[in-house]
Amino acid sequence: MLQKKNMYWCQKMLPIMVRIAVRVVVTICLIVGIWVSNTPISNAQALVSTSVAVNTQVVSTAKQLKATAPYATVYRSPECTCCGGWIKHLKAQGFRIKDFPTADMDLVKRKYNVPDNLTSCHTAIVNGYVIEGHVPADDIKRLLQDSPNTLGLSVPQMPVGTPGMEMGNRKDPFTVFSFDRNSRVAVFKDYPSS
Ligand code: CU
Ligand code: CU
Repeated sequence: MLQKKNMYWCQKMLPIMVRIAVRVVVTICLIVGIWVSNTPISNAQALVSTSVAVNTQVVSTAKQLKATAPYATVYRSPECTCCGGWIKHLKAQGFRIKDFPTADMDLVKRKYNVPDNLTSCHTAIVNGYVIEGHVPADDIKRLLQDSPNTLGLSVPQMPVGTPGMEMGNRKDPFTVFSFDRNSRVAVFKDYPSS
């Protein structure tokens, strides 16, 4: 009697158990299959490679910009601190700097034909132009773009409020002059007091 009952259970239940087992296995395979080819993962991989590409582009663009940035060769007295302030300003505006502390600044000014009445502390050479004193970077950029028949620019003496000559909020009026080989001087830009 007991044996018969067992036989009956086996005959009835075994196929059901087998079917359930097969379904479980198929479902697991499906889930694993979906997980392996999961799009979020490939999306993540795509995202990573895209961001790497974008980053590389940004870095190489920055490098290119840096490589084309004009050099400013700066001659200055070794003790000059405001010259350092002007160099910082130029660097912040994208210029590359070659710094030459020089004892005899008069010699430098004579060599580069800076008019006597336009002299200041430092003398810089940018793309062949002479930049005398605390000339704002924007004016140098305009000079480089327009390329007029100018030998150079100057902010004579050292007006307070020019780049490198900051003293709190004080800004004295000053003028950026241009000069040519014959020491002909013209107003390049006026900075009124503010
Ligand atoms: Cu100075
Ligand atoms: Cu200086």
